[in-house]
Amino acid sequence: MIHKFDAIVVGAGGAGLRCALELIQQNFNVAVLSKLHPVRSHTGASQGGIGAALGNEEPDSPEWHFFDTVKGSDYLGDQDTIEVMCEEAVEAVLELEHFGLPFSRTAEGKIAQRPFGGHTRNFGEASVKRAAYAADRTGHMILHTLFEQCVKNDVRFFNEFYVLDLIMDGSTCRGVIAYELATGDLHIFQARATFLGTGGYGRAFSITSNAHAYTGDGMSICLRQGLPLEDMEFVQFHPTGLRKLGILVSEAARGEGGILRNSTDMANVGTGKDGFMAEIAPTVKDLAPRDMVSRAIYNEIKAGRGIEGTGDTGADYVVLDLVHLGADVINEKLPDISHFARKYLAVEPITEPIPVQPTAHYAMGGIPTDVDGLVFANARNDVVNGLYAAGEVACVSVHGANRLGTNSLVDIVVFGRRAGKAMINYLADAEFGRVSDTANEFIQGEIDRLKNGGGKEKVVDLRVAMQKTMMAGVGVYRTKEGITESRDAVKELLRRYKHVGVTDKHAFFNTELVEAIELGFLLDCAWTIAESALLRTESRGAHSRVDYPDRDDAKWLKHTMISKTGDDEVAFDFKPVTITKFKPKPRVY
Ligand code: FUM
Repeated sequence: MIHKFDAIVVGAGGAGLRCALELIQQNFNVAVLSKLHPVRSHTGASQGGIGAALGNEEPDSPEWHFFDTVKGSDYLGDQDTIEVMCEEAVEAVLELEHFGLPFSRTAEGKIAQRPFGGHTRNFGEASVKRAAYAADRTGHMILHTLFEQCVKNDVRFFNEFYVLDLIMDGSTCRGVIAYELATGDLHIFQARATFLGTGGYGRAFSITSNAHAYTGDGMSICLRQGLPLEDMEFVQFHPTGLRKLGILVSEAARGEGGILRNSTDMANVGTGKDGFMAEIAPTVKDLAPRDMVSRAIYNEIKAGRGIEGTGDTGADYVVLDLVHLGADVINEKLPDISHFARKYLAVEPITEPIPVQPTAHYAMGGIPTDVDGLVFANARNDVVNGLYAAGEVACVSVHGANRLGTNSLVDIVVFGRRAGKAMINYLADAEFGRVSDTANEFIQGEIDRLKNGGGKEKVVDLRVAMQKTMMAGVGVYRTKEGITESRDAVKELLRRYKHVGVTDKHAFFNTELVEAIELGFLLDCAWTIAESALLRTESRGAHSRVDYPDRDDAKWLKHTMISKTGDDEVAFDFKPVTITKFKPKPRVY
């Protein structure tokens, strides 16, 4: 089946919906392809807020936001794109308000704002209230608001369509190949411009806050087409996932005054006294950036100050104490995370601290793009005509080595919108070009192999092995030995992947087949993460090498670009970091 649209948007999270909205408002014929019903997209899992220097609760400025983001990125973020993001964040949030987003409010009726990790006033003086929020459901509200706007404007949705490949014609993208879950049909979507907003790869790790759908599809699809991925070594671990489950417990909990405690500190639960973060980051304490807090939790556990579990579970966690905040704050401002604690851990946060551990949360790296979402084909900044990306799948390099909380929601609305505008300009004279009606042959071959190739390997075995080895070797702390072991294990899993077979031979709703395909995507991401982590012999942001504990600006103030050069081989190239205003300094909080 062949479809023709001016523009195809892949992914119905915040970036995709914001991009589609821009295009439809200029009357372009646009289709959104999504693996899920749009309001089940992972944007909905983002809880605590969207950062913008509105200054509603106390003085703030986009320039402070710019500085905090650069410092938070451990100086690896490109400062030209960060400046754009922080400047445009204000307008983007007000625009969401005008679309009808039900933000929490101050007493005077302005959009309410709360503190978040690494966001400060006056270049690091103290925490600032910058995160505009809707209780702890900010991403959920953004997703629903943008979806409503898209429906109102008659955007065409193809739900439960899995995009499996790009249609490339030299250096131009002509659309995508998609698998329809309901029927098992492959569809060719021809487009003059294509946007990828497919999110991250958190499911490559065993403990993650990410949705099951976060399987690295967009990154892998580009990699297989010979395109590079940027800064893949930088994987963010959010400090507070629900213990053993990884489900996000928003940083907003610490923004509202929550305190992390170790086993020596349990007597202070409910008192509001400082916890272990006060020594590590005396100015911002529990609101230090995520990379620092995640490492601090690991260090507490390693030093024997983790909280004793029962049975074989060990002392592998710390607790987040909200008790001193009182029932009103907890119920009103943190309803979702309280519900998660009650539901999944049988913990009542009004009277008991919540067991937490770091959880794989966010991909700082991804498909390299310019400030308008246009995809780069290499480190020399040649572009892929007609191909755009934004949000977690992309690396416009605003997060560098460590993303600040709230900046993912800013990223999706600012760069989703910018990409939409850039696509509109491109569409002024872009043509459909020629697409062969056999464009889906390669993917059809892959599907046939998985269904009928007689492979005996099972998806679940490979997936569990990948998740375990990535968590062990390429997690919060890394060493050459650990990364090498994980890299080799992932390469072996890639070899075994060629012998995967699915038992369900049906065409309709074949979720077993889809999981097999997604495993292939995840393995590509895991491989490139491990290779890039092995190469970068320094510690910067979320990439913490025990064997290279210092940041090494002389050698590593640059972006890595990894490409796949063979079944078993990768190659690297590098790009300089754009530094405009803030010279790299040690990060002290
Ligand atoms: O902690 C949170 O609410 C997560 C937000 C984010 O990742 O930006």
